[in-house]
Amino acid sequence: MHLLITNIHQLLNVRAHTVLLRGKAMTGLPIIENAFMVIHKGRIDAYGSMDALPEKAYDAVYDAGGATVLPAWCDSHTHLVFAKSREQEFVDKLNGLSYADIAAKGGGILHSTAALQVTSESVLFEAAFMRLQGLMHLGTGAIEIKSGYGLTVADELKMLRVIRRLKEVAPMPVKATFLGAHAIPLTYRENKQGYVQLIIQEMLPEIAAENLADYIDVFCEQNFFCVSDTEKILEAADKYGLPAKLHANQLSVSGGVEVGVKYKAVSVDHLEAMNEKAIHALAASDTIGTILPTAAFFLRMQYAPVRKMLQENCALALASDYNPGSSPSGNMNFVVSLACIQNEFLPEEAINAATLNGAYAMGVEKEVGSITIGKKANLIFTKPIPSVAYLPYHFGTPVVDKVMINGNWI
Ligand code: NIG
Ligand code: FE
Repeated sequence: MHLLITNIHQLLNVRAHTVLLRGKAMTGLPIIENAFMVIHKGRIDAYGSMDALPEKAYDAVYDAGGATVLPAWCDSHTHLVFAKSREQEFVDKLNGLSYADIAAKGGGILHSTAALQVTSESVLFEAAFMRLQGLMHLGTGAIEIKSGYGLTVADELKMLRVIRRLKEVAPMPVKATFLGAHAIPLTYRENKQGYVQLIIQEMLPEIAAENLADYIDVFCEQNFFCVSDTEKILEAADKYGLPAKLHANQLSVSGGVEVGVKYKAVSVDHLEAMNEKAIHALAASDTIGTILPTAAFFLRMQYAPVRKMLQENCALALASDYNPGSSPSGNMNFVVSLACIQNEFLPEEAINAATLNGAYAMGVEKEVGSITIGKKANLIFTKPIPSVAYLPYHFGTPVVDKVMINGNWI
């Protein structure tokens, strides 16, 4: 079936061929004004200006009525599978408790771990699937999901099996990342190396045998996993062909960026705490820097120095970091707004970062992330908006009117 879509006010991010965008190139957002588009078998079949609309018969016609149409968001960093929200910690923080106080009360990542360990695979799956459907309605059309709240062999496998089920049923591309090195579990408090060895010797082989992960992640941070732990884990993962996506430089200049670059990580994520050396290492590499502004917002922390990184020619993506501790929202529309308001992304740069570069940051760039013939018709239709800049400018009020995934309205 050929569906013709007419009267698109602006068709955004139209590219015959794509490359990863870096530095200045991120400001280029190719647009067709007053456009049409044809969808066939769930994919983009044709597009162009309404003036050049070919006169032929289509099976169906949809009048977009002046909507702006863009590729659905590609959210390349989430912790979508979790057992419970953590709003009590949020209140504790409002009452003046520090991150360390909260951790001492058994809070933080280990709080989520305790809850996840006593929750069944099917309950976790149902909750995560509900979240995924909610995100789809907000315009997300591809997603990466991490483990990392299990922290035992059985519970990390359980999380990754939940993600595998999500891959099977979700209509959008889903990528799985093994984040056993998210925190040191209580049972290994005095024996961090024992836990690193558990990851390397027990978790990784089982995960690889069941083909449960596409990527490996490590929280490379003071009091979590240091550069040398990270190297050991990435070395081991490399033997199973798992590329890295790291949590790096969130709370401190951790060396995470450099170690990610050294191991040819697909992405290093967070980057709130950057120095010249880390920026130069990233800029000189093929590794993508993934910025997570809602985590900095929610934790009231410094924002990643995006202007500096773009001046140095880094390739940047934007993602939600959806998780119950530091970003209890997966709304990519807000991520894009906040990226402009606080990280000083320009609207065009933010849209590229949250679509095409996000797709590259999870290896789905051949399928999604731009308006390109042959790519999946995973699309956002906005309410009528006057300009591209209106999208991040009008924060907090949804501009998404309709979402199409694989050519189907959802
Ligand atoms: O990306 N920084 C580490 N991990 C998460 C937070 C996870 C949590 O608090 O549950 C993050 O911010
Ligand atoms: Fe994260």
